[in-house]
Amino acid sequence: MSKQRIFTYEELSSLLKETVSEKRYLHSLGVATTAAEVLEYFSCSDYVRHWNGFEAPFFCGIVHDIAREKTDQELLEFCRRRNIFLSAEDVKAPVLAHGTVSAEIAMDLVGNYPFSWYKALCVHTTGNAGMDDLALALFVADYIEPTRRFMTDERRKFYLSSANLWQCAYRVLCDMIKHWKETGYFQASSGSLAMKESLERRGCTYE
Ligand SMILES: [Fe+2]
Ligand SMILES: [Fe+2]
Repeated sequence: MSKQRIFTYEELSSLLKETVSEKRYLHSLGVATTAAEVLEYFSCSDYVRHWNGFEAPFFCGIVHDIAREKTDQELLEFCRRRNIFLSAEDVKAPVLAHGTVSAEIAMDLVGNYPFSWYKALCVHTTGNAGMDDLALALFVADYIEPTRRFMTDERRKFYLSSANLWQCAYRVLCDMIKHWKETGYFQASSGSLAMKESLERRGCTYE
């Protein structure tokens, strides 16, 4: 069992501020508040809400990118030291592992927080099948939070006009996959494709 070192949001935010750039720090705070708003907006309840004085969306938003500025080498080394399984995709693009490494660092900071929060942090970049409301809200918030320069108010409204959180996440995912394809920057990972398929099985469409 890991030992708790951090007990409050203030301590958690200060540590984040010392660890990442100003831009990433503000992005993380934006994800925290936006994830909470998204959960509230869609009246979601399928997630573990509280743990030890922390609320799921705020906690996950603050820590989700705490490892994002580690180098590829540092991410790979961290995973190797902890025997964290890396897929061939992770090895090819180690940045994909920053969610899992952030989740592990969070564990070192606050102790054994809920496993569903850990899973939400692990999949926040690419998504995966079987995401609960927290994981979906974190995924959406990461894309639409207010400091995202590429996001327009019109697009935000489009996502939030979805019938439910599943469809909202589905729209975000489809746009991300389309963007990756167009820019050739990144191929849709198996996690993203699994997320797409699982949301389609729940009846999601893009319209
Ligand atoms: Fe991230
Ligand atoms: Fe992020």
